[in-house]
Amino acid sequence: MRVSDCYNFHDFRRLAKKRLPGPIFNYIDGAADDEVTYRRNTAAFEACDLLPSVLNGVSDVDMSVTVMGQKLAMPVYCSPTALQRLFHHEGERAVAHAANRFGTMFGVSSLGTISLEEARRISSAPQVYQFYFHKDRGLNRDMMARAKQAGVEVMMLTVDSITGGNRERDQRTGFAIPFRLNLAGMAQFAVKPGWALNYFTHEKFRLPQLESHVDMGSGTMSISRYFTEMLDPAMNWDDVAEMVKEWGGHFCLKGIMTVEDARRAVDIGCTGIVLSNHGGRQLDGSRSGFDQLAEIVDAVGDRIDVMMDGGIQRGTHVLKALSLGAKAVGVGRYYLFPLAAAGRAGVERSLSLMKTEIERGMKLMGCATVDRLSTSNLRFRT
Ligand code: LAC
Repeated sequence: MRVSDCYNFHDFRRLAKKRLPGPIFNYIDGAADDEVTYRRNTAAFEACDLLPSVLNGVSDVDMSVTVMGQKLAMPVYCSPTALQRLFHHEGERAVAHAANRFGTMFGVSSLGTISLEEARRISSAPQVYQFYFHKDRGLNRDMMARAKQAGVEVMMLTVDSITGGNRERDQRTGFAIPFRLNLAGMAQFAVKPGWALNYFTHEKFRLPQLESHVDMGSGTMSISRYFTEMLDPAMNWDDVAEMVKEWGGHFCLKGIMTVEDARRAVDIGCTGIVLSNHGGRQLDGSRSGFDQLAEIVDAVGDRIDVMMDGGIQRGTHVLKALSLGAKAVGVGRYYLFPLAAAGRAGVERSLSLMKTEIERGMKLMGCATVDRLSTSNLRFRT
């Protein structure tokens, strides 16, 4: 199977699974506890059906949107995700190039494997910096100053990872950064020589956002331990209000799930929120972002840009979220499996397929522009 044979999320996932060592594939593919929320994220889109409106003259479709002051050529952006160098040697560079080509926003993670400055140089598309609030306030200040200096457009604070989610797949494989593997994990590497050759003949794995404050040379750390030991569980609304002020630009909270918290985000001056359960990787049994869209948009949609992520695999999923009032939607695994499968070419193909699906969907829905999509296009099943 080649990348040109991939037509959807599942094809890319299969190809990534073939190519990646088991521990790395399972780190991407896995989620918390019984992975109920992970499955629900995609299933949620089946709770409602699209209602097309016909004979509207749709020869020219414009799918561009404006979110947090940023004009995006398509309503889907690449959510910030960690450790991309492990998935493919092109890592974040591939994603930055692809986002640039498709004119959409992308995120660089605190746990990114290229620097936010380099990402900035690669892409002129709007850049989000994904911020983890560390116990080390010096590190927080430093990251914020660097992002400002680099001209990052949107600060995005993840608020759903105050402690590590229970990711049992990672516990079984011993997945950790920079690298530690138990025996079973090692065996998995041995059977993926293509990946291993690639990994070891390209530049060393680094975490440039953290390395000035964290000693990466001494030992390894699981993602769960990173969350639990290095992030500050005392983080509260006052801390964030201060950050919003200090940043002085577009500020977004990722992981908001209630109307009450959405209102507080408005009160402290945020310009965006992402309804998200971190791809089902943190609190299993929590609700999907899509299921919370209607009530949150209804409460705050006129005062803040509401986005969502989680489970998006199809253009029609995007149309459903936009119909409920999301300003744009984020994808994670949707571009990570293609990255693992084929680097930049994979990410570009996945975004191209998504763009084609959205365009086709908008034509079939009779909506030439995104603002034509509304709740009147949707019916929930009873
Ligand atoms: C994860 C973090 C690092 O979900 O975002 O693994």
